[in-house]
Amino acid sequence: MSDQPLVLREVESPLARVIINRPDKLNALNAEVIGQLAESLSALGRDDTVRVIVLTGAGDKAFVAGADIAEMAALTPEQAREFARRGQRIGTLIDELDKPVIAAIGGFALGGGCELAMMCHLRVASPTAKFGQPEVGLGLIPGFGGTQRLARLVGEGRALQMILGGQMIDAATALDWGLIDLVAQESTALEAAEALAGRLARQGPVALAACLRAVRRGLQMPLDAALEYEAALFGGIFATEDMKEGTAAFLAKRKPVFRGC
Ligand code: COA
Repeated sequence: MSDQPLVLREVESPLARVIINRPDKLNALNAEVIGQLAESLSALGRDDTVRVIVLTGAGDKAFVAGADIAEMAALTPEQAREFARRGQRIGTLIDELDKPVIAAIGGFALGGGCELAMMCHLRVASPTAKFGQPEVGLGLIPGFGGTQRLARLVGEGRALQMILGGQMIDAATALDWGLIDLVAQESTALEAAEALAGRLARQGPVALAACLRAVRRGLQMPLDAALEYEAALFGGIFATEDMKEGTAAFLAKRKPVFRGC
């Protein structure tokens, strides 16, 4: 086994890059990768100099080609359930980070890779990227949130088409269906994701966190409760220095300097 970490973490404040680093196995997610990924995301969550995170895969072939089939093949039902929970917890972790996480997808995003991309707040892909939930072809079902997040992103019919058919879709179709948010035309997916990350990092971080909570948690609530939640977050923002700075800067016709408090 190589001495290289399976997940690399690079910080260039205010941005951070997390790279799944198993290119010889198309960055397939085994228990070790999932553990290191959780560790990296948690560390970046605690790092106040980091405002936006870009998640990508090493090499030019794959973002992530799925959960590790060789490792999964030997699991008992109890171990498999726990493996699914460990994968799903990455999504919970991303939700709890309170800073945007952008997936940069330069190749295959299949199975757990498509699910990992869907856990992120935004997805930027190269025109040659491919997406799919091919688990049925292995006699499996998606287990890292795919049966839930895919339907929420692209609608039930298209989700069932992908999950039951197991076929891949290209980046143009993924964009058209709402599975991804941007196709990089004049740069790599990573460069385009980092340009987007740079734009987000210039906004007020407290407001970004509140927007993420309002949209993501709000989507899990009935509309009236979600609107009340939005009003509470809106009110809370008025107690922040960033709000005072942002409005004062606009009125003084200067650029705001947000401090994240
Ligand atoms: N789990 C474990 N290993 C994987 C993997 C996965 N999900 N996806 C790819 N690999 C490994 C291959 O076994 C191969 O390893 P080897 O060189 O030791 O034999 C290596 O990564 C390269 O993959 P390979 O299949 O040779 O590349 P390819 O270009 O011919 O095909 C794919 C690319 C993505 C079409 C093909 O690898 C594939 O179908 N992967 C599985 C996708 C999948 O079903 N994911 C859902 C899992 S639940």
